Amino acid sequence: MSQITVNADLCKKDGVCVAVCPSRTLALNAKGFPEEVAGSSCIFCGHCVAACACGALTHTGLPQEPFLPALKRLPAASVIDGFLMSRRSVREFKQEPVAKETLETLLDVARRAPTASNSQKLHWIVVGDAAKVHALSAETVSWARGAGFGSAMLQQWQKGNDPVLRGAPAVVVACTPKDYAWGKADCAIALTFLELAAEARGLGVCWAGYLTHVAGVHAPIREMLSVPEGYAVQGGLMLGERKYAYRLIPPRKPLSVQWV
Ligand SMILES: Cc1cc2nc3c(=O)[nH]c(=O)nc-3n(C[C@H](O)[C@H](O)[C@H](O)COP(=O)(O)O)c2cc1C
Repeated sequence: MSQITVNADLCKKDGVCVAVCPSRTLALNAKGFPEEVAGSSCIFCGHCVAACACGALTHTGLPQEPFLPALKRLPAASVIDGFLMSRRSVREFKQEPVAKETLETLLDVARRAPTASNSQKLHWIVVGDAAKVHALSAETVSWARGAGFGSAMLQQWQKGNDPVLRGAPAVVVACTPKDYAWGKADCAIALTFLELAAEARGLGVCWAGYLTHVAGVHAPIREMLSVPEGYAVQGGLMLGERKYAYRLIPPRKPLSVQWV
């Protein structure tokens, strides 16, 4: 039975829902109304409903939550460019915890990130307790010591600094099933959404590369994070209130680009 229903009174037969459907699940029938094509495979992206200007479509296969209004006017491109370029990896945090509501909002933004074939296979782990974050750093350093890896990291740790998670009050980790081919890409995109949403709220963020790597090779880290069986840690972020502001945007290497 079709999961997409069309209200014939509202439908203007403009075919927009058919045009935006990535899997060609919809086609116009002889009367000009959209209908589901037998044997097609909907990826449940919701585009048909989201693009229909007359509100004629409903899709019962989507999560049972309301569609949100899309932005009618984007912020000026110069504002967005400036925001993106002003993002910095922040490694000095105040000790205040990040409010759970804030973390929930950030995760909700990250939930809207694209995933391959709209698969939405991400599982998130949030460590919102600075003592637990510190314990993760300690275990990462302990692994590094045993593996003969990262002498600069070990020296920093001995001096009382945290080179792994930088004394952040919170860490967010993204996982996917181990056998899911697009796990790294999906998580990197979703974490980037989360990072930018956090920056937009004045929080400082830094990618947790050491933790991500060590979670892949050292079971105690996965146990401390309670990574579900069959899942792999694909990336993580440390975040908290930033101690310092950045006045300038640093230069980058010149672009390496070829136009074909
Ligand atoms: C995948 C990835 C992993 C990273 N891991 C760490 C890390 O473990 N610790 C850290 O201090 N910075 C980490 N960084 C931050 C980079 O060092 C940083 O992005 C780079 O120096 C450029 O600085 P910017 O982000 O302020 O522009 C990581 C960045 C990426 C993209």
